[in-house]
Amino acid sequence: PSASGQSSFDRVIAGDGRIEPRDEMPDDYRKSLIRQISQHAHSEIIGMQPEGNWITRAPSLHRKAILMAKVQDEAGHGLYLYSAAETLGASREDMMQALLAGKARYSSIFNYPTPTWADIGAIGWLVDGAAICNQVPLCRASYGPYARAMIRICKEESFHQRQGFEILLTLSRGTPAQHELAQEAVNRWYAPSLMMFGPPDADSPNSAKSMAWKIKRFSNDELRQRFVDMLVPQAQALGLTLPDPDLRWNAERGHYDFGELDWSEFKAVLAGQGQCNVQRVEHRRRAHTEGAWVREAAMAHAAKKAARQQQ
Ligand code: 3HC
Repeated sequence: PSASGQSSFDRVIAGDGRIEPRDEMPDDYRKSLIRQISQHAHSEIIGMQPEGNWITRAPSLHRKAILMAKVQDEAGHGLYLYSAAETLGASREDMMQALLAGKARYSSIFNYPTPTWADIGAIGWLVDGAAICNQVPLCRASYGPYARAMIRICKEESFHQRQGFEILLTLSRGTPAQHELAQEAVNRWYAPSLMMFGPPDADSPNSAKSMAWKIKRFSNDELRQRFVDMLVPQAQALGLTLPDPDLRWNAERGHYDFGELDWSEFKAVLAGQGQCNVQRVEHRRRAHTEGAWVREAAMAHAAKKAARQQQ
C-alpha cells in the first residue's frame, strides 16, 4: 500500500476497526487472510464427509433430518468463506483445484474416521464445540467479510453443538452398550479436538502477526484452555469421562490442567499421514467429477435466464 494507505491501515487496526475489501492493505495481511480463510472453507467442505457418511444410517428419521440439515449448513459455511476469500482477490477455481490436487490444508480433525453413530454425537459436541470456541473471537476479526461470515456461521454452529450433546446424552443414559458406544467415541475424539486449535503457542509461526493484525484475538493455547474448562462440567452432565488422567482443577490458575497432547500425531496428520487423508481427498475428487452435470446444468440455466432477460 502507499504510505498513506499503510498509515490508515495501521490506524484502523489500532482502533479495533474493520478493513474492507476496497481498503489498501499490506500484501502479507492479504496473503495470510487468503491462507486462513481458504483453509477454513476447505475444512467446512471436507467436514461434510465424516458426518455425511451416517445420513443413510441414522437411527431415526428425526436424527436423519437433523444430520442432513447440519451437513447442508457446513456446505453453506464453505461457500460463505470461499466468497470471503474471493473479496481478497483469491480465485474460487484456484482454491477448488488446490483442494482437488490434495495441496490445500484443511482442519486435521476431519482426517479421523467415524465408525459408529456415537461419532456423530462426539463430532457435534467436541468438534463443533471447539469450532465455536475458535470462531466466536473470529467474529471480531479485523477483516470485515470474514468477521461477518463468522457471525452467521456461529449461530448455526451452536445448533450443531447442541444436537451433538443431545445425541451423546441419549446414548449415555441408554443401555450399557449405548453408554459404552458414547464413551468409546469421546475417547477417540477428545485429544484430536484439542489439536484443532493449532500447535502450542511456542510452535505457532503465524500467531504473532495474526494477533498484531487482530485476526487472531486469542492464542492457540488460550482457546484450547477455554475449551477444556468448558468441557469438564459438560462431560459430568453427560455422565461420560474425558480420557485424560492428568485432567484436574488447578485452583492457583483457575483453570483445569490437562495432559500433554501427542504433537507427533498432529504433525503426521498435517503431513497427510492421518487415518483418512487419502480417502477424504479421493472422495472430494469423485464428488467433483460426479457433480459436473449439476454445475453444467446450473450454468446453462443461468445463461438461458440471462438471454431471456435480454429479450
Ligand atoms: N489442522 C490443520 N492445519 C493446522 C491446524 C489444524 N488443526 N492448526 C494449525 N494448522 C496449520 C496452520 O494452517 C499453519 O500452517 P500454514 O502456515 O501452512 O497455514 C501451521 O499449522 C501453524 O499453525 P499456526 O498456529 O501458526 O497457524 P494459524 O495462526 O493459522 O492458527 C488456526 C491455526 C487456529 C486453525 C487458525 O488458522 C484459525 O483460526 N483458522 C480458522 C478456523 C478454522 O479453520 N477452524 C477449524 C475448522 S473446523 C470447522 O469449522 C468445521 C466445523 O463447522 C465442524
